[in-house]
Amino acid sequence: MKHQHQKNDVASHRVVNPLLDQKVRETAVKLREMGSQDPLKFWAEMSRDIEWSKNWEKVFDGSNTPFYRWFLGGQLNASYNCIDRHLAGWRRNKAAIIFEDERGETRVLTYQDLYREVNRLASGLKKLGVKRGEVVTIYMPMIPESVIAMLACARIGAPHSVVFGGFSADALRDRIQDASSRFLITADGGMRRGKSVPLKQNVDIALGSEKSPVEKVIVARNTGDAVPMQQGRDLWFDDVSNSGELYCEPERMDAEDPLFILYSSGTTGKPKGILHTTGGYMIGVHTTYKYTFDHREEDIYWCTADIGWITGHSYIVYAPLSNGATVVLYEGSPDYPSQDRFWSIIEKYRVSVFYTAPTAIRLFIKWGDQWPASHDLSSLRLLGSVGEPINPEVWLWYYKHIGGEKCPVMDTWWQTETGMFLITPLPGDESFVPGAATCPFPGVDVAVLNEQGEPAETGEQGYLVVRKPWPAMFRTLYKDEERYLNTYWSQYKGIYFTGDGAKQDEEGAIWVIGRIDDVINVSGHRIGTAEIESVLVEHEAVAEAAVIGKKHEIKGQAIAAFVTLKEGHNGSEELDAALKKLVAGRIGALARPEEILFSAELPKTRSGKIIRRLLRDIAEGKIIGDTTTLMDPQVVSSIKEKYGSMES
Ligand code: WT7
Repeated sequence: MKHQHQKNDVASHRVVNPLLDQKVRETAVKLREMGSQDPLKFWAEMSRDIEWSKNWEKVFDGSNTPFYRWFLGGQLNASYNCIDRHLAGWRRNKAAIIFEDERGETRVLTYQDLYREVNRLASGLKKLGVKRGEVVTIYMPMIPESVIAMLACARIGAPHSVVFGGFSADALRDRIQDASSRFLITADGGMRRGKSVPLKQNVDIALGSEKSPVEKVIVARNTGDAVPMQQGRDLWFDDVSNSGELYCEPERMDAEDPLFILYSSGTTGKPKGILHTTGGYMIGVHTTYKYTFDHREEDIYWCTADIGWITGHSYIVYAPLSNGATVVLYEGSPDYPSQDRFWSIIEKYRVSVFYTAPTAIRLFIKWGDQWPASHDLSSLRLLGSVGEPINPEVWLWYYKHIGGEKCPVMDTWWQTETGMFLITPLPGDESFVPGAATCPFPGVDVAVLNEQGEPAETGEQGYLVVRKPWPAMFRTLYKDEERYLNTYWSQYKGIYFTGDGAKQDEEGAIWVIGRIDDVINVSGHRIGTAEIESVLVEHEAVAEAAVIGKKHEIKGQAIAAFVTLKEGHNGSEELDAALKKLVAGRIGALARPEEILFSAELPKTRSGKIIRRLLRDIAEGKIIGDTTTLMDPQVVSSIKEKYGSMES
């Protein structure tokens, strides 16, 4: 990255905390003090909030950098911590999950209900032959059965690999193969804007064409659509649960036993299996949820993320349930049947803590203030944001139109790899900086470094890194230790490299700018440019492809693909449509390029490396600087010309 001595261009215009109470303030001050004095002692202290079946002996082992281990010798079970321990008192009758589907049908599961369903499924899975330590793939919509499936796996010590329901059959197949899953849990379908998403059909395609490791497919009924069930392979979720006992002993897991893997995009065509373990993860997510969202027993909490992403794992399932919270789960679209669906849900259930993404907020702004204004949102007391940088204007709109200028906004920065929030304000802060994730969570040590590894100057853009290990950190990439070392630990010795650029303002607030690698962030979802490129070049007409993220008003970034064709092929509308369809089919609709530009050539360095930065500048209509180091400087102007004519 170039050294940029540019000053912070957004004036840090602080917003005074509208809801500062003394107790919360004291907590924030105390936690920060503890965390900065002695992080290990801090996390050891925090670990008391989790129930251990065997106490840990050593809080941290850093002897084999960067294969860190936490809470050594400790044993616990995540499902026990999320459910069983709440049953001793009145919480057993508390709603754990308030579910609403797109049609408006609702279901409430108390902690006792959740306990029963998780136990029955866990026991049924065991009877089917699921073994401790084997990876179970889950490909499901946003329904209670997804949470039940995850917790049932955790109960029997089988790490889950949840594949986002928006991924295609091909993407699902790759992930199943990589994890060698013998068991797959899915549903007949999902609901989206009044239509069914054919999950079971995708599963059949994923398992059909090649030899698959999958032996049993467990299908939950959701849409009620007729789906073919393959004799001997497919089973109904209810039948598996009915075959199980009412009690299934939770496995005593070692703190460092895997809890789950979650595939995420990287800079190569192959997704990375991010592996999280049990003890440190549970303590990290539990603690960050408790203090960042100032958890209160009477809260109704709603996180709009999908269960298929890390936000769903950490902050729909493990963190809130381990805190004994009431979680709203909504399966459907924010604009169905009308653009006030979210606000009507908040009003209906009296949601008090609401956690969503900037891309969604930008949509709400576009749809108009009248939608939230027509609902009573007075139950809200705290807001959260995650997934990408939130523009200061968007922060302020959220604060005003959703929070009614009385809710603190927590802009939480973290990653699939980090497992838990690493940078976030706390509700006990006196003021907030709209647009900045602000400061590290207590006990966390982040920094912005320059190329030389020194702290960047105030206002200077540098690399965001984490200097000390944290409990919920991922432990490795599944079956790919080398990539783990290369991607995250090779830039600076002993320091975690996030892949994000950031700068710090005069007051020390951290402004995350975004990815600095070949990963793009579309609507808060991470997609590797290489993944899309490798699909594009599969097409017989395509010689070469370069994919970039182009600034987009709603999505943050939109996907633009520059494609050169083989001799004898011409760019046409049909080919444009065919390529978009190919990508959506191979990866999922989230990866479909917004635009495709057919170009005779791509800008390359003399050594033949495509310069994506130049393509991004062209796509964003920026002035192109020095191109003399290019193999063929002429290429840029011809692409620019072509692009300009396409735009107009
Ligand atoms: C990347 C991680 C963490 C859950 C959702 C995405 C970006 C995330 C913020 C934020 C600025 C953010 C970063 C990060 N990001 N939250 N509050 N401010 N950027 O998880 O797919 O692992 O992506 O999302 O670029 O590296 P993910």
